[in-house]
Amino acid sequence: MKKNFFLLFLILFGSTAFAQQADEITIIPKPASAEKGTGVFVISKRTSIVAKGADAEKVAGMFNYFFNKKYGFTLKINNSALTDAIVLNTMLRIKLPEEGYQLKVTSKGVNIVGDRSGVFYGVQSLLQLIHETGAQLSVPAVNINDQPSFAYRGIMLDVGRHFFDANEVKKILDVMAYLKLNKFHWHLTDDQGWRLEIKKYPKLTAISAWRDSSIIGGYGDFSPFIYDGKKSGGFYTQEQAREIVKYAADRNIEVIPEIEMPGHCTAVLAAYPELGNGTGPYKVPGYWGVHNTIYNPGEPTFKFLEDVLTEVIAIFPSKYIHIGGDEVPKDEWKSSAFAQKIIHDNNLKDEHELQSWFINRIEKFLNKNGKNLIGWDEILEGGLTPNATVMSWRGEAGGIQAAKEGHNVIMSPNSNMYIDHAQAKDSKTEPLAIGGFLPLNVVYNYNPLPAALTPEQQKSILGVQANMWTEYVPTNNKLEYMIFPRAIALAEVGWTKTESKNYDDFVGRRLPAVLKDIEKAGINYRIPEANVVIADDAQTGRKKITIISSVAQSKIYYTIDGHKADNTTDLYSGSILTPFTNGRQLTLKYIVVTPGNRTSSEFSVDIK
Ligand code: ACM
Repeated sequence: MKKNFFLLFLILFGSTAFAQQADEITIIPKPASAEKGTGVFVISKRTSIVAKGADAEKVAGMFNYFFNKKYGFTLKINNSALTDAIVLNTMLRIKLPEEGYQLKVTSKGVNIVGDRSGVFYGVQSLLQLIHETGAQLSVPAVNINDQPSFAYRGIMLDVGRHFFDANEVKKILDVMAYLKLNKFHWHLTDDQGWRLEIKKYPKLTAISAWRDSSIIGGYGDFSPFIYDGKKSGGFYTQEQAREIVKYAADRNIEVIPEIEMPGHCTAVLAAYPELGNGTGPYKVPGYWGVHNTIYNPGEPTFKFLEDVLTEVIAIFPSKYIHIGGDEVPKDEWKSSAFAQKIIHDNNLKDEHELQSWFINRIEKFLNKNGKNLIGWDEILEGGLTPNATVMSWRGEAGGIQAAKEGHNVIMSPNSNMYIDHAQAKDSKTEPLAIGGFLPLNVVYNYNPLPAALTPEQQKSILGVQANMWTEYVPTNNKLEYMIFPRAIALAEVGWTKTESKNYDDFVGRRLPAVLKDIEKAGINYRIPEANVVIADDAQTGRKKITIISSVAQSKIYYTIDGHKADNTTDLYSGSILTPFTNGRQLTLKYIVVTPGNRTSSEFSVDIK
């Protein structure tokens, strides 16, 4: 099946350095339906945007933002233009699904219809449809009707382990918008750092936001740990956080803040030790893993958390606040007379019920303030609080249980959605990662609707999220390398119906075009393995090797003699015939050099 697909593909498109055909539809995520028409619409400096509706005017501004970034000029908004126009219409009274849109391109112009989010996504599809041929920008005639499979399509970014500044966050948000991802879960606090200004508790940014050192290497590499001796940290002012919220909203992205409790709080205790279980002094740690230090369940802790959440609620308009709830070792509560007294006084069975009691109080506070609580799946232990949404990360079991109990669920299982894991099996070919292996196809092939749920129960699955934990991600370049291309696969998991997904078409035909765009936008990414197709050559009895790059217009240098491939070895140009017929094994080694001169790792494939 796979081979046939690629053979057909090769007949159609020839060699690896395929020039994208002017009428190719390479949109990611793949639209619900797209019918090609005939001809192309040419966009020039004389083309106008017509905005019908106040929301359409706003989206027109976003069109120009993205268009200008890509092509270096903007189009004028001229609402009386009758021809040579891109019409954005948020006023038409046709009922489309939430975030859905219709996009029609003819040789005369472009028409996009939907509500504000729909037209915004129509614009993103349009931007992906533009083909640049020399100086000409053309859009193939097409009729697209599109809508998402899931309402929740998210990425979580951990800024606790390493801080990423507001500009880097905006850069990620731009690509999320391009991919029609609409939830940015901002993991703002962890043991190793607190990242949000809280006016009532200034020590959170004076002390908790900084650590004096971080371990080098992987968690198990050196025993005892070796530290780098470098102070690191940072935080967002409330003004910066508000600006990010607005920036995201302009791109149809909701920002969901996470304030961790009752664990993952060592950085807080370094500043406010009275909120711990009396085992201080504390310092902001520079090593990873699950820490024993947790909040004590006393009134000053609730006062602190409610004060913090009050400021958080004022910054973030999302109806959700994420409160963490994961990885809470109960040792301190077990040995604390104070915690035990609370268990006793409230008729709780054990420390798990104490955690549930703790989160219940916070949930009541959030609900009273018009917010819904999200927690990691550990919040199921000791009993789920009434209105909580569960984020299932330890596989799908927590999500399945919560959905059966009628709770809303976001699927982010570590088996498919942990993009902090390495992207290749051989860890020597990849930068340091947290352990585990998560290749692109495993992200792509994830179906967020577990078969263990009935269709009715499946309605509780709001969607899907990839988690970017950053223990081993200290730089912007590495952050982008870990996120892309896996977030591109995530986009299709969240948007495209399972039955119309096809990994071969994704990786072999559409991903190359999108990665070329990502590269042009100055974003780092891991250059994926090419598709190597090995077929019997009927004429010669030899093997015929065809290599299809995963990045459009890239070069491939290779060897088949066992030696290292680099830019001094053979340049691939059409298929390779093995030099013998007797079935001996060879190893193909190759590198991919992209149009922007980025070089992949060396990949190898056995030819049998
Ligand atoms: C998690 O990965 N600890 C939610």
